[in-house]
Amino acid sequence: MLSYKHGYHAGNHADVIKHIILIYLYNFEKKTNNSISYIDTHSGNSIYKYISKYMDKNKEYKNGIKKVQNYKGSNILIRNYLTTISKITKKNNYYPGSPILISSISNKKDKLFFCELHNKEFDLLKINLTKFTNTKILNLDGFEFIYDKVNNENSYFIFIDPSYEIKKDFNKIDNILDNIDKFFVKSKILIWYPVLDILENDTFIQSIRKKGISNIINIEVPVIKYGDNVGMQGSGLLLINFNNNSIIRNIKETINEIQKILKQEENITKPKLRYL
Ligand SMILES: C[S@@+](CC[C@H](N)C(=O)[O-])C[C@H]1O[C@@H](n2cnc3c(N)ncnc32)[C@H](O)[C@@H]1O
Repeated sequence: MLSYKHGYHAGNHADVIKHIILIYLYNFEKKTNNSISYIDTHSGNSIYKYISKYMDKNKEYKNGIKKVQNYKGSNILIRNYLTTISKITKKNNYYPGSPILISSISNKKDKLFFCELHNKEFDLLKINLTKFTNTKILNLDGFEFIYDKVNNENSYFIFIDPSYEIKKDFNKIDNILDNIDKFFVKSKILIWYPVLDILENDTFIQSIRKKGISNIINIEVPVIKYGDNVGMQGSGLLLINFNNNSIIRNIKETINEIQKILKQEENITKPKLRYL
């Protein structure tokens, strides 16, 4: 039984960071690929209204998109993210999730697959993506779908954004990382994770390091002091097969800039970008 609803969290600090990087990497891939095959394993419904019982409950977007939306700085990744959002939402009455963000910057040759297991979220997603003709919306387990679809003969851009409401999600990520050589050598993978407990987080990162995967970059952006609080203290991304000097340079600059905007207190750990 799935109880998680992304509407409670949409537009929070973690969404802002993951969507800035996702949009940047997708556009980067478009420069060299005529057509992209893309899988969003955990899609959500993609339209999150600010005035709704979900967004209104904890108002997490106030520490996320609301802090960034009037950004006047020069960082191109942040500016592109904001432009993408404003082109989609126009009246700015909702926060767009990853399926709409990517559909709106894709072209007709791209093939986009969106998996959503929650029946109601799936029904909404189908409605919310009606106008995009290059999409397939699937009421399937995204973790299983990638093994059916992706192999070492083809190349996909895969975005993996579980809620981690069940601890097994971490094991499934582990499984994907153990199977890079078997299924994903030609694919690019972006995986999101929350930083909830600093000790568990260290163990998670150390276990990935021990796998000795080549071409895995980790970024992590704290927004409050690690260890001080309960709840999400920051978030991270794993980038597999994206190693390129300009990607690294641009992301490094961006996470430093975005932390200045999203941090909720002073003297917190600096953002990290490292090869694992
Ligand atoms: C964090 S939300 C996704 C947010 C979305 N990627 C975005 O950036 O806007 C995770 C979603 O995955 C769905 N979900 C959970 N387990 C799943 C699975 N195994 N396969 C597909 N969807 C799943 C949940 O119902 C939820 O809507």
